Amino acid sequence: MHHFKYRGDELYCEDVSIEKIADAVGTPFYLYSAATLERHYRAFEDALKTTDHLICYSVKANSNLAILSQFARLGSGFDIVSGGELFRALKSGGDPKKIVFSGVGKTREEIREALAAGILMFNVESLQELHEIDSVAAAAGKTAPVAFRVNPDVDPKTHPYISTGLKQNKFGIPVVQALAAYRTAQSLPHVTPIGVDCHIGSQLTEIAPFVDALTRVKDLVAQLRDDGFEIRYLDLGGGLGITYDEEEPPHPTKYGRELIENTVGLGCTLILEPGRVIVGNAGIMVTRVLYTKQNLGKKFVIVDAGMNDLLRPSLYQAYHRLQAVRRRITEMVLADVVGPICESGDFLAQDREIQPYEKGDLMAVMSVGAYGFAMASNYNTRPRVPEVLVSDDRYYMIRRRETLAELIAAEEVPDFLRNP
Ligand code: LLP
Repeated sequence: MHHFKYRGDELYCEDVSIEKIADAVGTPFYLYSAATLERHYRAFEDALKTTDHLICYSVKANSNLAILSQFARLGSGFDIVSGGELFRALKSGGDPKKIVFSGVGKTREEIREALAAGILMFNVESLQELHEIDSVAAAAGKTAPVAFRVNPDVDPKTHPYISTGLKQNKFGIPVVQALAAYRTAQSLPHVTPIGVDCHIGSQLTEIAPFVDALTRVKDLVAQLRDDGFEIRYLDLGGGLGITYDEEEPPHPTKYGRELIENTVGLGCTLILEPGRVIVGNAGIMVTRVLYTKQNLGKKFVIVDAGMNDLLRPSLYQAYHRLQAVRRRITEMVLADVVGPICESGDFLAQDREIQPYEKGDLMAVMSVGAYGFAMASNYNTRPRVPEVLVSDDRYYMIRRRETLAELIAAEEVPDFLRNP
């Protein structure tokens, strides 16, 4: 459920006309609904309310400060994967005691900053990283709370680029090596193992892989307890999918129920790191049709947003529904919707049944709140687009359009290349 709905033939975000926003801020832009963000967060929170849990919203999905601030106010913790995300989480008023730090390549500097902030837990992905954390903590006179991210080797049945829990993926350590790794951790003076972590992939539309992973991880928790470890946190990562097209992922309530049933009596705080399921359908991208053309055997609708603004279709062949901001009830046509970037891979949709858009029409690209703006780039020297947040009948610019001056601000031409 989201708050992008037609009133008559005009698309609204909550109580604001999208056309009005487009006229005011220009296109393209990302647009989020605060009511939808809150609704999705609360649905997740409600689904787990009968068990001891902590939601750590996965910052990578959408890291705008306003959105992080909204989650921080709702009581969310944060799952971060870089010093940059730590910076954002803290700036947004995030409670460091609710931050978990994931990722296979944490640098000494990032570890030092996270230790200084006093985060809840490092999700460690290799023995070398464990030693690095121990050494950084020793230098700081601290002890770092850690969990190992274990790789349960289950197939999440999702796109290969976003599956992470198979043995051929780079993430985590194999479950079979975990006990030895925890013993190593125990022997180091500046790390304390307090949890077990896993994350098997993203955009999962079935519950079974989560339960398979949970079963394996639970066995490990039992084994560790037998070995004298005090495991207080079980972090199951993120990954619950959303409806982009026809997918029917389980509702968070069902997902929560399964997790609760499968962790009864475990005595761990359940940590979850949802990203997409909370922000995905709470955001759209609005773009304007620049031109249309009919080439031999193919119709093209050329819009002002490209793969630099929204990479998912090009990178994952991801499907995003397209909706006319002003719909016309006419016969549909088959067309490719493409951007201005100089690559054939620059498309938002291929061979799609759409209304016959005309030059100047506005188009909404749906379900881009997760990994949309977050993956945008300046390719082709295109300033990144604004982000706008609607709450009830008002809209707020939560990121203005970048300027060309900003794009070149960090660059320098050495003296020998300057004109005499
Ligand atoms: N925790 C960890 C350790 C992760 O690696 C991820 C996502 C999440 C949580 C959040 O997963 P979510 O709930 O959002 O599925 N760019 C891709 C998705 C990459 C996901 C990376 N990791 C896309 O556009 O589909």
